[in-house]
Amino acid sequence: MENQKFVPALGYDFLTEYYDLAIKLTMPEKKFRRLLVDTIKPNPNEKILEFGFGTAQNLLLVKKECANIDLRGVDIDPKVKEIAAYKIAKNNLSIPLDLYDGVTLPYANNQFDKVYSCLVFHQLDADTKIKCLKELFRVLKPNGKLIIADWGEAANPIMRLTFGLVQILDGFKTTNDNVRGLMPNFIEKAGFDNIFIPDSINTLIGTFSYFTARKNEIIKVDFQKNRWHSAC
Ligand SMILES: C[S@@+](CC[C@H](N)C(=O)[O-])C[C@H]1O[C@@H](n2cnc3c(N)ncnc32)[C@H](O)[C@@H]1O
Repeated sequence: MENQKFVPALGYDFLTEYYDLAIKLTMPEKKFRRLLVDTIKPNPNEKILEFGFGTAQNLLLVKKECANIDLRGVDIDPKVKEIAAYKIAKNNLSIPLDLYDGVTLPYANNQFDKVYSCLVFHQLDADTKIKCLKELFRVLKPNGKLIIADWGEAANPIMRLTFGLVQILDGFKTTNDNVRGLMPNFIEKAGFDNIFIPDSINTLIGTFSYFTARKNEIIKVDFQKNRWHSAC
């Protein structure tokens, strides 16, 4: 199957090699990635997936935080895979990286304890956001945890204004839903429960939020069954 169209890490393919520098210059990188790792809270023996690993900045931090986890990454862009693989090897770490077509993740159902993603969903249009979230729901184990770090609802008019820079680079169509605060709606539509925004950071270029949710699939099915039985 042909790959879905996608927005490269920095909006344009030729800018991908400058991605790390651009993040360093425009965002409080240490702070927002530290908060992501703290929100993921990797525990020994957990099976964890990063969706849209980019240049592996998060994969390296998560693996260094907890070496004894089964961590892997998936992305759509072969160019970032090359960069990520180089950095992982340079750090003497082993983290498998997968590419996929943008439609179906190359994993069986109910595989991962945690799935996280950082700075990916603002690059997806509404339809793709829901499709990808449904795929993340599918590959998570029941009671598995979703963690998303991405642009959220602007905390004030200045944040709304400065977010314009991200919108110029990444496009208005995909970023409008984020800045309008619609991420929790997409997460819920994909089937997740217990949706929270535990933290948000105001940066030079907009409000950056952390979203967490659970795949409470088994509880939901049992609950509906019980209701149906008691109604009969
Ligand atoms: C802005 S970069 C973020 C990279 C990294 N997660 C980080 O925190 O720096 C967005 C990444 O999402 C990937 N991406 C775009 N569309 C995607 C899709 N449909 N499925 C998976 N990854 C996608 C891009 O290839 C890119 O690596």
